Amino acid sequence: MVEPIKKTTQAQRETALRAAGFNTFLLRSEDVYIDLLTDSGTSAMSDWQWAGLMLGDEAYAGSKNFYHLEEAVHKHYGYKHLIPTHQGRGAEHILSQIMISPGDTVPGNMYFTTTRYHQEHAGAQFADVIIDEAHDPTSPHLFKGDIDLGKLERVLKTAKHVPYLCVAATVNMAGGQPISMKNLKAVRELCSRHGVPIMMDATRAVENAWFIKTREAGYADKSCAEILREFCSYTDGCTMSGKKDALVNIGGWLSLNDDKLAEKARNMVVIYEGLHTYGGMAGRDMEAMARGIEESVQDEHMRARVGQVEYLGELLQSYGVPVVVPIGGHAVYLDARRFYPGMPQDNFPAQMLAAELYLDAGVRVMERGVVSAGRDAKTGKHHYPKLELVRLTIPRRVYTQAHMDVVAESVVAVHDRAEKPKGLRMTYEPEYLRFFQARFEPI
Ligand code: F0G
Repeated sequence: MVEPIKKTTQAQRETALRAAGFNTFLLRSEDVYIDLLTDSGTSAMSDWQWAGLMLGDEAYAGSKNFYHLEEAVHKHYGYKHLIPTHQGRGAEHILSQIMISPGDTVPGNMYFTTTRYHQEHAGAQFADVIIDEAHDPTSPHLFKGDIDLGKLERVLKTAKHVPYLCVAATVNMAGGQPISMKNLKAVRELCSRHGVPIMMDATRAVENAWFIKTREAGYADKSCAEILREFCSYTDGCTMSGKKDALVNIGGWLSLNDDKLAEKARNMVVIYEGLHTYGGMAGRDMEAMARGIEESVQDEHMRARVGQVEYLGELLQSYGVPVVVPIGGHAVYLDARRFYPGMPQDNFPAQMLAAELYLDAGVRVMERGVVSAGRDAKTGKHHYPKLELVRLTIPRRVYTQAHMDVVAESVVAVHDRAEKPKGLRMTYEPEYLRFFQARFEPI
């Protein structure tokens, strides 16, 4: 699908940004020139996927597209049960509700906003067990998604009850950073000794497989598909947002190997999502996702996808712009702390930088710092994450390298006038996942 994009003037962008309360989530997409807000649901579908849409079996129960999806998930991810959901957070909700009891602790390799929300909503406390390097944007560690075995063991030994370990591949909030096969194997061994299952956030697990292929010893000659299967084999189930790796605009699933848990999940999916053979998706959506999964595990696709992200990242580095290294799988992350060295975190530097980028050339990006981190449920104080980042997220199969050049030039222009902005003040704060709808004004 080819979509037109619109150029705007500086004056138009100023008006649009004010109307949006300096929050890029509140801009209208027609006022955006190059949209790097997210890679979620924004990828372009292939001819084969569009053809699949025409073959939607819209029966209420037992649609043949459900069975195609089940086959694709089984073939490439290997799990026994598939419970479709409308998107990733639908699966997170069900998993959290069936596995967590109040007072539990759920360890994870950093957090994702909706994932942690659902864990806390079910009564759990989240414990970060990612390696320290992940919190340092300048550390060149090749697998910053790895779990610190010492930190994990401490949680397993001291927490009252750990229902499961949540492993994200890749780690979005750390900068799209992968976890190594070696680390996951060791984690599996440790968790098995404590009788704790591992649930993966598989949202970008194929991108993770690509990094294992290109960075980890012994995997260069294996295909992404083979690596993905091995990776999943060390886990007991997954939540999935099909809107990323699986190349669709909407959809997700929950996979489980345990029969009893799957039965519980199937009981819940009918309350919140839809029947267990569609989970909130139309038949045609399930067909597009089944085909998207097939395409996503192709090595040539991944080479082009991750290669484009690297292209932008390396261009920005060559201009001396502070970015998180190594460059991640789905996005380049600007380090707002180094962009605005004097600006206190209370003035929301990453939110400011995202607004500045929109003003300069109409490029839309996302804050991933103190606003996204939210407040501590007990103390009511801001969480102050070490990482104060802005994410330039690349949709799959949408933009050309020329678009990336425009983005890089705009980032450089904003970097050159970095002494001007003083930061933002929050004027409206929603109760949940505040970054989506919060409003700001310049200081
Ligand atoms: N897990 C990860 C790692 C994600 O990145 C997302 C969504 C989800 C779970 C939730 O999935 O959106 O389908 O409900 N990330 C989007 C983003 C919103 O922009 O990174 P969902």
